[in-house]
Amino acid sequence: MAFKVPRGTQDILPEQTPKWQKVESILRQLTHVYRYKEIRTPIFEQTELFQRGVGDTTDIVQKEMYTFDDRGGRSLTLRPEGTASSVRAYVEHKMFGSPDQPVKLSYMGPMFRYERQQAGRYRQFVQFGVEAIGSSDPAIDAEVISLAMDIYQTVGLKDLKLVINSLGDKETREAHKTALIQHFEPSISEFCSDCQNRLAKNPLRILDCKKDHEHPLMKTAPALTDYLTESSAQYFADVKKYLDTLGITYVVDPNLVRGLDYYNHTAFEIMSTSEGFGAITTLCGGGRYNGLVEDIGGPDVPGIGFAMSIERLLLALEAEGVELDVEDHLDIYLVAMGDEAKLKSAELLSTFRAKGISADMDYVDRKMKAQMKSADRLSAKFVLVIGESELEEMSVNVKEMETGNQEKVPFSDLVNYVLEHK
Ligand code: HAM
Repeated sequence: MAFKVPRGTQDILPEQTPKWQKVESILRQLTHVYRYKEIRTPIFEQTELFQRGVGDTTDIVQKEMYTFDDRGGRSLTLRPEGTASSVRAYVEHKMFGSPDQPVKLSYMGPMFRYERQQAGRYRQFVQFGVEAIGSSDPAIDAEVISLAMDIYQTVGLKDLKLVINSLGDKETREAHKTALIQHFEPSISEFCSDCQNRLAKNPLRILDCKKDHEHPLMKTAPALTDYLTESSAQYFADVKKYLDTLGITYVVDPNLVRGLDYYNHTAFEIMSTSEGFGAITTLCGGGRYNGLVEDIGGPDVPGIGFAMSIERLLLALEAEGVELDVEDHLDIYLVAMGDEAKLKSAELLSTFRAKGISADMDYVDRKMKAQMKSADRLSAKFVLVIGESELEEMSVNVKEMETGNQEKVPFSDLVNYVLEHK
């Protein structure tokens, strides 16, 4: 029987990891300058955390969680996202007591959702995300959005669209909920069973339905923005003012509802507008979640954040034909002719490596020609061929592959020579 990776997961092979590492290093650099400190939380949490945090009526909780009982009979779930865990840690470690608010966190790691597999949608994917917990200043909303945009621009993407909306406060959503029920109730039998269940519990979720999105009533549904309270409208106006000042272009889409229950006020998504990108165009999603910290057992502290998957970022790069500047160079390839030469090569390898010079040699007894081909394939900068005469003379020709130039260098000077010329 041939084993395969589980459906919806993928191996990231050695040829692909340099791209991942490059993206990861850009993310680390940007979170450093924006000052979002990394937090690492467990891959699984108590199931109830997500039921309460992400929301009982969401697709994630209803259909997509990897939930299991451990041997002690506790219900655990592989994390489907990072916000609930970050907020749990914020509460558990009493970060609200820190004098430096908001607490700015970032994370990167695998998330798990049992979703239908398609391009850009995996069952295990790597999310990078940030959370700024402890401020309801519209300036931090703009900072979070600008960090997300900065990431995509720094990796070299151009075909981007930032869509924003305000989901308002509690009062806004209550008024909107009543209007939605009035709108959908008379024709609810034309909708899927999920939507029928959503009507009473959380009619906003109907707007997010993957099955019924073409129904004509979707287009005429009352927009949340029409129900914004005065203070919510002011907050949204302030966020836009900051975005304008930062020179960030956006489109307001009153129909933007996010798939998780904790959002209010600012909600946003960044899409790829590249023609080559598949059906799922959302690269990144986020928003404000005032009230979540309290729901998870902490004080009444506001928060905002976003998350993006590295998989979709890489797909967007591919769609736009952007090549990342990845470093995967080999400084030296040592070709050893004979057992004595191999011993010497092993010794030289370790002296090179001790100085941070990347170096490799043959370990499968190939002929000289095959070893030279290897050096070529690996794009080695220099090749050193060590045989009997080199051992006698204690020096070797250092050949620069690109130019073909050769220079005789004593073994004892090799490290310095390479450091100077690489
Ligand atoms: P989300 O919209 O569920 O939000 O996911 C955010 C991003 O994760 C998506 O835009 C996409 O890049 C990626 N993503 C989600 N599901 C998949 C999948 N199956 N395959 C590949 N990529 C996927 C959240 O997760 C919120 N926690 C974001 C947030 C943080 N809001 C506030 N703070």
